[in-house]
Amino acid sequence: MPAETGRLLIINGPNLNLLGTREPGVYGTATLADVEETCRTAASAHGFAVELIQSNHEGELVDAVQGAVGSAEAPGADGIVINPAAYTHTSVALHDALTAVARPTVEVHLSNVHAREEFRRHSYISPAADAVIAGAGITGYRLAIELLAERLGG
Ligand code: DQA
Repeated sequence: MPAETGRLLIINGPNLNLLGTREPGVYGTATLADVEETCRTAASAHGFAVELIQSNHEGELVDAVQGAVGSAEAPGADGIVINPAAYTHTSVALHDALTAVARPTVEVHLSNVHAREEFRRHSYISPAADAVIAGAGITGYRLAIELLAERLGG
């Protein structure tokens, strides 16, 4: 395992704490703990540390994105993986936060949002993301981390 060369922020939005029991036919049976394990394994293989955050509150998600900049008290992040969940389809605030911090960002959705209801086809987040992965289940998080590692040179 290479020495840690950078940090990735993995942000999960509302209701993703319910993974495993929430609409398993749509989101699968993997839990948020499984997402975390997948992310830690993929990141450490490329020498990245990860910080995982899940919140049901839009402002907390905005704060988490802003945290990518870092401060004297807290390290920032070199890249972001975000599943904004329902806020994908509503949040100008998250779009603006991602644009402001200007970190390489991959938007992930467990389900194929384009094959579902019409309202899920529009994302306020995609214009602020470098890539979008939808419909790959929790594998999408691994793919997102591999892409960021490639782009960040990990
Ligand atoms: C989701 C898709 C969103 O439309 C939905 O609101 C979610 C999860 C996904 O991972 O497939 O909560 O982001």
